[in-house]
Amino acid sequence: MTIEKKAYRAAIVHSIADPAEVAVQASYEYFEDGLMIVENGKICAVGHARDLLATLGSDVEVLTYKDALITAGFIDTHIHLPQTGLVGSYGEQLLDWLNTYVFPAESQFSDPAHAAEVSDIFIKELLRNGTTTALVFGSRHKESVDAFFTAAEKLNLRMIAGKVMMDRNAPDYLVDTAESSYVDSKALIERWHGKGRLHYAVTPRFAPTSTPQQLALAGKLLTEYPDLYMQTHISENLKEIEWVKALFPERKHYLDVYDHFKLLGERSVFAHGVHLCDQECERLAQTGSAIAFCPTSNLFLGSGLFNLPMAERHKVNVGLGTDIGAGTSFSMLQTLNEAYKVMQLQGARLSPFKSLYLATLGGARALRLEDRIGNLHAGTEADFVILDFNATPLLSYRMKQATSLEERLFVLMTLGDDRTVSETYSAGALVHKR
Ligand code: GUN
Ligand code: ZN
Repeated sequence: MTIEKKAYRAAIVHSIADPAEVAVQASYEYFEDGLMIVENGKICAVGHARDLLATLGSDVEVLTYKDALITAGFIDTHIHLPQTGLVGSYGEQLLDWLNTYVFPAESQFSDPAHAAEVSDIFIKELLRNGTTTALVFGSRHKESVDAFFTAAEKLNLRMIAGKVMMDRNAPDYLVDTAESSYVDSKALIERWHGKGRLHYAVTPRFAPTSTPQQLALAGKLLTEYPDLYMQTHISENLKEIEWVKALFPERKHYLDVYDHFKLLGERSVFAHGVHLCDQECERLAQTGSAIAFCPTSNLFLGSGLFNLPMAERHKVNVGLGTDIGAGTSFSMLQTLNEAYKVMQLQGARLSPFKSLYLATLGGARALRLEDRIGNLHAGTEADFVILDFNATPLLSYRMKQATSLEERLFVLMTLGDDRTVSETYSAGALVHKR
């Protein structure tokens, strides 16, 4: 076996705890002149260069980056592959936006060639933005997920995806049936779940587009394969919530619909949750379920402002999601920029260390993958990014004024975007270079 060992020298920071749960200073590790040693796709040491350089053999290559910051690869906990081509579609809120733009675009993914072409663009875009893991909605066609996993497997990426289940309240050309969605999902699970670094997520679109029979079969899949993920949408838009009440009048609240069909659990991620009540947050926490906070999407569709402090009070796991194509950027840095403003509009603060947590370790925790990704501890997979302080003239000039790590991080999260990501590594392999 070939032993491949390399070392990366730069400023290094990674999130090691939720700042909501520990003192801010205890939520991260920072090495101003840091060294990270990577061997066979895993991190074997991270620390001060002065301590670690002496432990390296003279044959080990050391890559040095000036005016740069190394951190863990970003984790996008909510994104739609088949919506890559409709980002920035004008003028509608959720339900009309779905009918006008999303359903026609998603119908094209019955064609494997189209699915392959978009998967390639989509994965390149994730990596250009430093996102090394994503929880991905396909379309209702299994071809979409086959294409995505085929492309992700070639690069040995840690990715999670599922075919959308939707058997009502959508155009005839796009719906499946309860039975066909079960059979198709099962075929994809058998083919992909646990293959390399890939995982499958059972993916009912949202309560209004699934019959009770389909939601029951989604729950059945989760019992048949205990380590599957589940992803769906919840409480994003007020009209949507009214619609769910009308469709499921016997359920106490929106989350109770999913709870009734056994869709809550430690690997369940609910996108948005903008209008959740205390009871719903409590139940999410109790079951270990997570929320994907999608600020650019919530602003773009006029859905509302996610109440992060409320989720924190209830100790609900929260990750960050771009929600392309209702979201307007693949960049998790730009997503944090908008997250900060969503907090500002509610009279709350989002510290740069909480932001770092949300984009990395928080996402890993939401996905129960913190032993593998989302931080740079020894033993984890070498998924990391190199952020370039000189990516643009303004960033470069602004960074020269910054006097602390906190300020530098905040500026990166305000001015940064895909240009800021100079290199992206997955399992120790360079998968993007600007
Ligand atoms: N709710 C149901 N489907 C969707 C979708 O595709 N995007 C968003 N933002 N919300 C949804
Ligand atoms: Zn979504």
